[in-house]
Amino acid sequence: MYILGIESTAHTFGVALVDENFKILVNIKDTYTTEKGGIIPLEAAKHHREFAETLYQKALIDAKINEKEIKAIAFSNAPGLAPCLIEGMKFAKLLSKKLNLPLIPINHCIAHLEIGEITGAKDPVLLYASGANTQIIAYEAGKYRIFGETLDVGIGNFIDNFARYAGMGFPGGPKIAVLASKSKNYIELPYSIKGMDVAFSGMLTKLNQMLNSKKYSLEDLSFSLQETAFAMLVEAAERALAHTGKKELLLGGGVACNTRLQEMCKIMCKERNVKFFVPENSLLVDNAGMIAYLGLKMFKKGIFTQAKDIDKIDIAPRQRTDDIKVLWK
Ligand code: ATP
Ligand code: FE2
Repeated sequence: MYILGIESTAHTFGVALVDENFKILVNIKDTYTTEKGGIIPLEAAKHHREFAETLYQKALIDAKINEKEIKAIAFSNAPGLAPCLIEGMKFAKLLSKKLNLPLIPINHCIAHLEIGEITGAKDPVLLYASGANTQIIAYEAGKYRIFGETLDVGIGNFIDNFARYAGMGFPGGPKIAVLASKSKNYIELPYSIKGMDVAFSGMLTKLNQMLNSKKYSLEDLSFSLQETAFAMLVEAAERALAHTGKKELLLGGGVACNTRLQEMCKIMCKERNVKFFVPENSLLVDNAGMIAYLGLKMFKKGIFTQAKDIDKIDIAPRQRTDDIKVLWK
């Protein structure tokens, strides 16, 4: 039997299939990108509408299965951009009705967390660094608790914003990473951390001003941005490790693809004698594999909604990680 996963919280529409042994058979996606400017939610939703059926058919072919072998459909219903979430839900409900299959609504952030298991992490502190989210999370007494988070924008949005200001398209993270690798000249930037909470807007303002002044190269600014922002994340994560006494650090979210962030985490973990885990890039960025994976876990524990009741299911654009009772562990 197979579980179908559907991801559509923001820029990415993804479809995946896992088998009953948690093997991810297919994990395909198409991502809405722009040459200039940021993500426009209605355009991203249109993108998802256009790609849904094609990706689904391709997933069946790639996995060499018949849709009748699917046992349930997991889809990300929270949190995210409402127009995008709606497209994913519509597609999931359509299939649920057509095939008479149960639905499993999934919290996207928790899926980023749970997929870390694949790397062997058992009870980690998660540094979740994505576009919209920046949180330090760990499991405690039935819930994933947020120990620290950004007080303004997510780290990815912060980097993408600066990139956009500098005339690059979306996503800017990978482009900034390339520029950063060409410099070693550190320019001091506002470093903002309180306890385990961080903030990026002061640094963004400063970076934009420095760019306007034309006194600094984009390489030096990108390098300094990464060194400063990542040092804040590593410091927050280290504090969470000390506070919880946990012995594992797991990275998650699209920004975790950044090799410099990975390297800085590795160094800190070595010093603290903590094990470090990072999934492969295709499971770090938004993807449906992690949705199907958590879907299977929940399905095995009987947590799903029968096809006849799916009208009760809705999207929850602002749901928080700690709103969810973890009933599948
Ligand atoms: P979420 O909904 O989970 O908050 P998201 O929908 O924005 O996040 P992700 O795919 O998890 O999606 O992350 C996308 C972010 O990752 C973008 O901001 C992008 O710039 C950033 N990113 C991707 N690769 C890199 C990299 N190598 N270095 C830095 N940032 C990166
Ligand atoms: Fe994400």
